[in-house]
Amino acid sequence: MTKQPAGHLWWQRGVIYQIYPRSFQDSNGDGVGDLRGIRSRLDYLVDLGIDAIWLSPIFPSPMADFGYDVADYCDIHPLFGTLADFDALVADAHRRNLKVILDFVPNHTSDQHPWFIESRSSRDNPKRDWYIWRDPAPDGGPPNNWLSYFGGSAWEYDATTGQYYLHLFLKEQPDLNWRNPQVQAAMLDVMRFWLDRGVDGFRVDVMWLMIKDAQFRDNPPNPAWKPGMMPHMRILEAWSADQPEVHQIVAMMRRVLDSYDERMMVGEIYLPYDRLMHYYGTPESPEAHLPFNFALVLLPWDAHTIAQTIAAYEALLPPHGWPNWVLGNHDQPRIASRVGEAQARVAAMLLLTLRGTPTMYYGDEIGMRNVPIPPDRVQDPFEKNVPGEGHGRDPQRTPMQWDASEYAGFSKVQPWLPLADDYRQRNVAAQRNAPHSMLSLYRRLLTLRRSEPALSIGSYQAIAVEGDDTARQSVLAFVREVNGCRFLVALNFASHPARLSLTTIGEGTIALSTHLDRGGSTVQGDLELRADEGVIIALAP
Ligand code: GLC
Repeated sequence: MTKQPAGHLWWQRGVIYQIYPRSFQDSNGDGVGDLRGIRSRLDYLVDLGIDAIWLSPIFPSPMADFGYDVADYCDIHPLFGTLADFDALVADAHRRNLKVILDFVPNHTSDQHPWFIESRSSRDNPKRDWYIWRDPAPDGGPPNNWLSYFGGSAWEYDATTGQYYLHLFLKEQPDLNWRNPQVQAAMLDVMRFWLDRGVDGFRVDVMWLMIKDAQFRDNPPNPAWKPGMMPHMRILEAWSADQPEVHQIVAMMRRVLDSYDERMMVGEIYLPYDRLMHYYGTPESPEAHLPFNFALVLLPWDAHTIAQTIAAYEALLPPHGWPNWVLGNHDQPRIASRVGEAQARVAAMLLLTLRGTPTMYYGDEIGMRNVPIPPDRVQDPFEKNVPGEGHGRDPQRTPMQWDASEYAGFSKVQPWLPLADDYRQRNVAAQRNAPHSMLSLYRRLLTLRRSEPALSIGSYQAIAVEGDDTARQSVLAFVREVNGCRFLVALNFASHPARLSLTTIGEGTIALSTHLDRGGSTVQGDLELRADEGVIIALAP
């Protein structure tokens, strides 16, 4: 029996690991991570068992939004190194069979990008139409009611030329005009620049925002808005997001990728599933390989909600679409803070056994938590613009905790963001050889996933759980199968024990428990799950 059916590509079988470069490893003693730092940690990533690294932006940038404000798409910020460092990183990664995915930020540039400097210089500058300029409303105010994600109007008045420009994020991040063919050509050339350098793919920033209504109609109010929600949610993004024309743009990007070998793109898209699925495109006109599925990040952590969500996702996925799952990223609270340490282990098992490409966030493999940031050390512009509302993203961007030394092995100097209070206990060195650590769990999960194709490319079948009350209410169970090789995954979302009946499922051997203590034991009839325990069971044929 062959375990490994042919026909799946690296980004379908593999696991993506997001690195926030400022916070992974500092090599030159400036308190900010860099490319040489990442290079020096590649063996750690190989040992962990991931397949691809995605680097958040490393391009020249004034850092108004920490690199998501790009001033030159085809170079490396000196903070992170040089193009030669980048080439060396790609070569070292490829030698280790690791793929490299770059962040591509097509919706907006920095206001310091030469294109924007030209564009704002005069109304008849050839680059004027590369950005979105509009006349003031009759009262002199902004052209319409669109709001910025980071607070306030999405329009900034520019006195030099008497018009407003659009910025869905900071005013230092003017939106490009993707209706302009020159912009399209220039940005597709940026993709080619990196693909020619050997990059394996892109994570595309705010893919669903790239094109706006041609008539710039006002957005309707959002009746469901409540204080505490993100400020731009006061209105519904009817005309400023997810416009039909965006799909032509994504398809264009895809054609560039398809002119190379096995390159891919994953799109950042925060939309309900029925809208999200359009970003796969059609078989005739494919779009993103993986439109990010953020459900596990956004939904309440309970077995029912998640079971229903998985079912909805699997049902809506187009036949040519490959699924994917995410537990955290640089914009979202850390999973261990959100669901607690014990459930974070269950979450790890879920992420790495669901059908679809998993994306991990650096540090989650050691259970890093949100780090409280004292007011005088806040860096995130979102927090600075809308202080105290809990939108700040610094807590999930703190330095990787490598060891118990001063500055956690991340740097020789005070890092740009504070370290977690508990880094001396919670770090890679402490967990590396601790048999029950979070890191050991992640490594075991990744090893198992790699050796058992059922867990990566196998089919997914939900199981209606039978058993005691806790089992029925709080256990999520499913079977993954390939070529007759079947695994049952059963995850207890409750902090008390549950008993499942396996009579309709079969018997088997525990391949892995989140508690890392009962691998190899056989189960038959009933399966006892302890509080916060998940297990993967190799089912007997
Ligand atoms: C994306 C990025 C986020 C950034 C924003 C603007 O959502 O993930 O970090 O602030 O785009 O580029």
